[in-house]
Amino acid sequence: MSIVKYVAVVMVITVLGSARAQPEAKFNCTTTNTTCRALIDYRNPNGTTLSYIQTLFDVKQLIDILGANNLPSNTTGNYSVGPNKAMKVPFPCKCNNGTGVSDHVPVYTIKAGDTLDNIATTIFAGLVKYPQIQEANNISDANTILVGDKLWIPLPCSCDEVGGVSVVHYGHLVELGNSVEGIAEEYGTTQQILLTLNGITDPKSLQAGQLLDVPLKACSSNVKNNSLDYPFLVANATYIYTANNCIKCMCDSTNNFKLECEASSEFKPTNWSICPSTQCSSNVFIGNITAKDSCNQTICDYAGYTSNNISTILETHSTCAAAPNGSAPNGSLPNGSGPSSGATKSTLQGWVWSNLFSVIYFILFSIYLV
Ligand SMILES: *[C@@H]1O[C@H](CO)[C@@H](O)[C@H](O)[C@H]1NC(C)=O
Ligand SMILES: *[C@@H]1O[C@H](CO)[C@@H](O)[C@H](O)[C@H]1NC(C)=O
Ligand SMILES: *[C@@H]1O[C@H](CO)[C@@H](O)[C@H](O)[C@H]1NC(C)=O
Ligand SMILES: *[C@@H]1O[C@H](CO)[C@@H](O)[C@H](O)[C@H]1NC(C)=O
Ligand SMILES: *[C@@H]1O[C@H](CO)[C@@H](O)[C@H](O)[C@H]1NC(C)=O
Ligand SMILES: *[C@@H]1O[C@H](CO)[C@@H](O)[C@H](O)[C@H]1NC(C)=O
Ligand SMILES: *[C@@H]1O[C@H](CO)[C@@H](O)[C@H](O)[C@H]1NC(C)=O
Ligand SMILES: *[C@@H]1O[C@H](CO)[C@@H](O)[C@H](O)[C@H]1NC(C)=O
Ligand SMILES: *[C@@H]1O[C@H](CO)[C@@H](O)[C@H](O)[C@H]1NC(C)=O
Ligand SMILES: *[C@@H]1O[C@H](CO)[C@@H](O)[C@H](O)[C@H]1NC(C)=O
Ligand SMILES: *[C@@H]1O[C@H](CO)[C@@H](O)[C@H](O)[C@H]1NC(C)=O
Ligand SMILES: *[C@@H]1O[C@H](CO)[C@@H](O)[C@H](O)[C@H]1NC(C)=O
Repeated sequence: MSIVKYVAVVMVITVLGSARAQPEAKFNCTTTNTTCRALIDYRNPNGTTLSYIQTLFDVKQLIDILGANNLPSNTTGNYSVGPNKAMKVPFPCKCNNGTGVSDHVPVYTIKAGDTLDNIATTIFAGLVKYPQIQEANNISDANTILVGDKLWIPLPCSCDEVGGVSVVHYGHLVELGNSVEGIAEEYGTTQQILLTLNGITDPKSLQAGQLLDVPLKACSSNVKNNSLDYPFLVANATYIYTANNCIKCMCDSTNNFKLECEASSEFKPTNWSICPSTQCSSNVFIGNITAKDSCNQTICDYAGYTSNNISTILETHSTCAAAPNGSAPNGSLPNGSGPSSGATKSTLQGWVWSNLFSVIYFILFSIYLV
């Protein structure tokens, strides 16, 4: 126990009668010895700012939150987030005895008037239940917590592949009117995968406020297994700054789920005074595409980083072979305007679809009642 400045003896209110009362979320996680990136929804009923979310969840850089939500990289921390608007929060995940939990973040400092239950339900929006905080922090008596003490909030997450495919696990908060099928449609997965992953037998049992493990497809990349950011998983419709902020990588479904990276000087590098070379060969840098002929193109791609350099790889691939889904246009340029416009449109389509399903469910249910 740390030095006690103030002692707050507080009653833990165990009345869980509200609509938020959901069983604690536990995501299966069996991948050993790795830390991976995960995402979780955070909603504040009063509205908030990105800076508040960054501080609350101990996110290292604001850009990590911007990338997770595909917001423009020049968005500032005072950007306001509307009441109950869900934002995706990125955090490191580690498997522990079959269950995934955030890797010793976020750390919350107890304030006067806090109870474990109110920290779980209100401050962390019900993403954890107070017994999980109690267990993670080895607190023997939940009724006695000390102002100024630090608590690790163990957020649910996973690092497991799904169906042999690399994914980023996203703890999605179910909203009123959502259906499993609608959520699957919106995030590019299937109802069956969601049901299996979350141990749900009856899709109709889905409730608002429930935290669903939603696997987001990650883009394929050339990052080598000895790179400091391996496994480099960037989820569909997100971007990440890596290699101490010297490289920006985006994952976009319109590029056939192939990661697009480019050198960036938008942010001051961390750890390095200047960014090391991102050159593949003379005058060819990460992100440059050189057209060889009408069909084959060569791209200088990001292949990872170490404490003192950035690796590159020259990759040649054919753009003539029909894309599997037949819809992707040939060779979209990574130096172009980025994924935001197309992705926004698709999100909107997903939203319309998910609500369409809700409407159909509602109609069917009404018929059933009659
Ligand atoms: C995990 O890593 C530790 C040290 O890094 C190593 O001793 C241990 O054998 C590894 N376990 C597995 C299952 O790979
Ligand atoms: C929202 O505002 C109410 C009323 O001011 C307050 O009691 C509550 O703690 C706030 N919730 C959050 C998550 O800040
Ligand atoms: C952010 O950058 C875009 C161009 O990429 C620009 O149109 C916009 O005004 C910028 N926003 C701010 C707040 O600087
Ligand atoms: C938001 O933050 C930026 C820089 O951090 C500042 O220039 C701007 O004035 C702030 N806007 C508001 C409304 O506080
Ligand atoms: C691991 O989980 C099992 C059951 O889920 C439990 O019985 C066991 O005590 C746990 N081990 C540790 C070290 O937490
Ligand atoms: C948890 O706390 C109890 C007593 O408060 C102590 O005996 C035990 O060693 C602690 N366990 C851990 C893992 O810190
Ligand atoms: C990828 O993201 C876009 C935009 O959010 C979405 O429309 C699409 O369904 C997603 N696809 C997959 C396979 O995740
Ligand atoms: C999680 O793992 C446990 C133990 O391996 C297993 O019994 C359970 O079915 C799994 N749950 C899901 C949803 O896969
Ligand atoms: C890392 O990748 C190399 C090939 O690039 C492979 O030979 C090696 O086995 C891999 N190591 C691990 C630990 O996966
Ligand atoms: C960056 O520096 C910090 C401390 O200065 C160190 O803990 C961390 O491992 C370094 N990261 C990399 C990727 O070199
Ligand atoms: C190659 O990439 C560099 C660095 O990203 C960029 O400045 C340059 O304009 C690119 N050249 C071509 C031909 O795209
Ligand atoms: C593209 O490259 C492949 C080998 O990588 C070659 O077999 C093929 O003929 C090339 N296509 C064209 C149109 O040059």
